Amino acid sequence: MFASRAGAYLALFVSFLLTFLNLVDGVKHENFKTCDQSGFCTRNRGYADKAAASGSSWTSPYQLDSKTVSVRNGQLTGVIIKTIENGSGTVRLPLVISFLDSGVARVTVDEEKRQKGEIELRHGSPARKERYNGVQDWVIVGGLTLDQNIAERTTDQDETIVSYGPKKSFQAVIKHAPFSIDFRRDEETQIKFNSKGWLSMEHWRPKVDREQKEGEPAPPESTEDESTWWEESFGGNTDTKPKGPESVGLDITFPGYEHVYGIPEHAGPLSLKQTRGSSGQYDQPYRLYNSDVFEYEMDTPMTLYGAIPLMQAHRKDSTVGVFWLNAAETWIDIVKSKTSSNPLSLGIGGTTDTQTHWFSESGLLDVFVFLGPTPKNIIQDYSELTGYSQLPQHFALGYHQCRWNYVTDEDVKDVDRKFDKAKIPYDVIWLDIEYTEGKKYFTWDKDNFPDPLGMQKHLDSHGRKLVIIVDPHIKNEGNYPVVDALKSQNLGINNKENNIFEGWCWPGSSYWIDAFNPAALAWWKSLFAYSNFPGTTPNTFLWNDMNEPSVFNGPETTMPKDNLHFGNWEHRDVHNVNGLTFVNATYEALLARDDPKHQRRPFVLTRSFYAGSQRQGAMWTGDNLASWDHLEASIPMILNQNIAGFSFSGADVGGFFGNPSKELQTRWFQAGAFYPFFRAHAHIDSRRREPYLEASGYVEPITQALRLRYSLLPAWYTSFHTAHTTGEPVMRPMWYVHPSDEAGFALDDQFYVGDTGLLVKPVLKEGVTSVDIYLPPTSNAPYYDYFTFETYTGSGKTVHLDAPLQGHTPVLMQGGHILPRKERPRKSSALMKFDPYTLVIALDNAGRAEGELYIDDGESFEYQKGAYIHRRFRFSSSSSADDNNKENNFSLVSDDLHPAPTKQTTSFLKTMKDVRVEKIVVVGALKAWEGKTEVVVTEDGEKERKVALQWNGGGRGKAAWAVVRDPGVRVGRGWRIAF
Ligand code: NOJ
Repeated sequence: MFASRAGAYLALFVSFLLTFLNLVDGVKHENFKTCDQSGFCTRNRGYADKAAASGSSWTSPYQLDSKTVSVRNGQLTGVIIKTIENGSGTVRLPLVISFLDSGVARVTVDEEKRQKGEIELRHGSPARKERYNGVQDWVIVGGLTLDQNIAERTTDQDETIVSYGPKKSFQAVIKHAPFSIDFRRDEETQIKFNSKGWLSMEHWRPKVDREQKEGEPAPPESTEDESTWWEESFGGNTDTKPKGPESVGLDITFPGYEHVYGIPEHAGPLSLKQTRGSSGQYDQPYRLYNSDVFEYEMDTPMTLYGAIPLMQAHRKDSTVGVFWLNAAETWIDIVKSKTSSNPLSLGIGGTTDTQTHWFSESGLLDVFVFLGPTPKNIIQDYSELTGYSQLPQHFALGYHQCRWNYVTDEDVKDVDRKFDKAKIPYDVIWLDIEYTEGKKYFTWDKDNFPDPLGMQKHLDSHGRKLVIIVDPHIKNEGNYPVVDALKSQNLGINNKENNIFEGWCWPGSSYWIDAFNPAALAWWKSLFAYSNFPGTTPNTFLWNDMNEPSVFNGPETTMPKDNLHFGNWEHRDVHNVNGLTFVNATYEALLARDDPKHQRRPFVLTRSFYAGSQRQGAMWTGDNLASWDHLEASIPMILNQNIAGFSFSGADVGGFFGNPSKELQTRWFQAGAFYPFFRAHAHIDSRRREPYLEASGYVEPITQALRLRYSLLPAWYTSFHTAHTTGEPVMRPMWYVHPSDEAGFALDDQFYVGDTGLLVKPVLKEGVTSVDIYLPPTSNAPYYDYFTFETYTGSGKTVHLDAPLQGHTPVLMQGGHILPRKERPRKSSALMKFDPYTLVIALDNAGRAEGELYIDDGESFEYQKGAYIHRRFRFSSSSSADDNNKENNFSLVSDDLHPAPTKQTTSFLKTMKDVRVEKIVVVGALKAWEGKTEVVVTEDGEKERKVALQWNGGGRGKAAWAVVRDPGVRVGRGWRIAF
């Protein structure tokens, strides 16, 4: 018996492995649900359809009981009464609307009976009875201070109107019966809740046994379709649903807004499509249910590995947004229609309304509302709530070389040497699952990696780092202390019977750490202590994969929803935040392994993520394909991550599955050099494709792309610092930077890097050797080709640039910006630390430009104590603008942006005292400088010096430029250079 069962398991496992080892083609649709295969999705869509079909005769059965409404200390509380269909009773739903100091409003609805635990669960389930209310503990880290100055009035139409936000310019108009909320800014309605009447909270009810018992009268037939209430089967697994139906749904309308963005992760355009089947649109809602969807398809609303339920709606000069805080499976329908003649919408610029319909399987209704008006306002408020992008260690912005797998420690050293021989820079080499002994994490395969420390010493000698993979599944095998501890201390995720859940992943039979459990977190931390994980060093960093979690034999390749986590919450309730909790444990573990006095910023790459994951490290877009459409899709996907607060994102360069052609590989490096997270990765069955292996004619442009990345590292690091302190994305789409320019709202194949003014348009199609870049109507700034200084004047037009394969990604510099870079090619970023800087100044038409530079030690948390340099460079004229004849009135000044220097600032400055600016290049140089040979340099506390200026006339469409070589000014000091 045992033998045959083991045999069956083995067969099953081999078939899963074959699937995952890419012996099949394309995504397995049958593994993932469509809306009609998901009970609550079908029910919520059906409810919306019924309401829509009833037209004006539809009344939402939810009413705010006016007697219960009270407004105090920045919060409105009350009870919404739901009338059950057919008038068979009512349900009490406590409502809290919080008005936050930031101007954000938060609407939370719970269910009294479940809240009080006055329900019965089926099958004797030990699960919690409440709607899950713990997701905020993982996600929200600030910004919840209540606004004590709100003003409230109740009208005679049974409406409560709350004025809040900046200068009380925001209003929440809360209609009691039926319950709805209109959010207004400056008297205009921007966002409407339940205006369509699709609000739905599936209340708890006992299951009525509809089977007729012998000798008893037939029980009444249900008037509703209960077929998906109590049990649902998919892919051979039955979800026992002990809590019955519990979904929450709401229609959210953005009147006058044609574009909506966000809700990653999906492989589709940045401006989200409609989902109810009109021509050229999707017929499925966007789905958020973190899943291991390898070989995913392009242009679908199908779910992927991570979820950030933040949506921004945008029209000319106005951006608003909602954040749906719920970690259960979620779907979002989007429908656009011509603006209604609703008088409350009058004055709104746009002619299209976007109606969205959100529904989650369980949990609270908990929605944050952002009224903008700028994209920057939204991302700042959202980041205040969920945290800012981590400031990565500096090395992490360099190039990462990964493949499944580097097979021995000698292999690693060999690759490392070959990079050096080819003079190609890189910072990190990665080890996938094969470095372990039999997929047991916290071990090394002793045959192939006999000397991990020696290997890392080798890397260390030129400033390189190692990343190793550790996944959340723990191999179920004897003599493995990690699994013994997991089991004996009950640190794993349990099945519905509350026994440890066993499933299949890379190691075969496995258990999963329950990172929701504080005891599991403490244990996980201990595992990474250098003494417990020999072979690791302070330069060993981490990759957390498969954390959706991926369970090869589970429904939809993940865990059964009735599994149980710490605190007896069902997996259903927490699924989308599961990956975040695991990365949290690893992040904490990396902190814990260091001496508290010398902690370094952890680096963890995650595949699964949720809102808040941006605090913990980087993400990548999972198992893409070595195909042109995947290269193309990577840009909108990464842009979407960036506007959803998660800047540190990238896609596998080269494509994970398959073998890229030489051309694709080259184009992918050229594009990837502009991903915030820049890593090449390849499947175990693919050919070796380290850059130095490329044929002549290809290796050169790839090397150029890598060097370009390295020379721009000061600008990248400064942009990450901006993201870390303001939430503003590192990679920015056109609509974000130019919110008034409608022609850019749907563009997602060109983008800016931070505040640098660099406008990038990679080649993403086969055989293409030129690009058309759209230039927005910015009146006062030309764009200069980054490489040739060719000048383009933008005004809502498209310009054509050559982009031969043997060249580089087209990049323009927008006039008005100053860009810091470093020009000496080195093996790794660590070796560039004290290299001098070059400042590239791209002048606008008035001869002005501005830019920033942020520098710290690149690894520790000392910057939080002030150990950094933050300068603003300003190039301007003291005389009237546009006057090319005035000489000597232009100057470049370096100002200190440090708000309050500390003793740590002083000691950091000491370490940087010899780091200078070695070159200044002024692009768009003034004609008046022709014949000029010197500039006057004054550094704080030093004598005036004269330094040579070299003027170049440009011509034939090229801007004139001027170069100051070795002005000798120090990067940490204040100075002025008069031109
Ligand atoms: C799946 C990941 O997405 C992929 O990048 C990795 O190589 C494999 N797991 C093996 O660990």
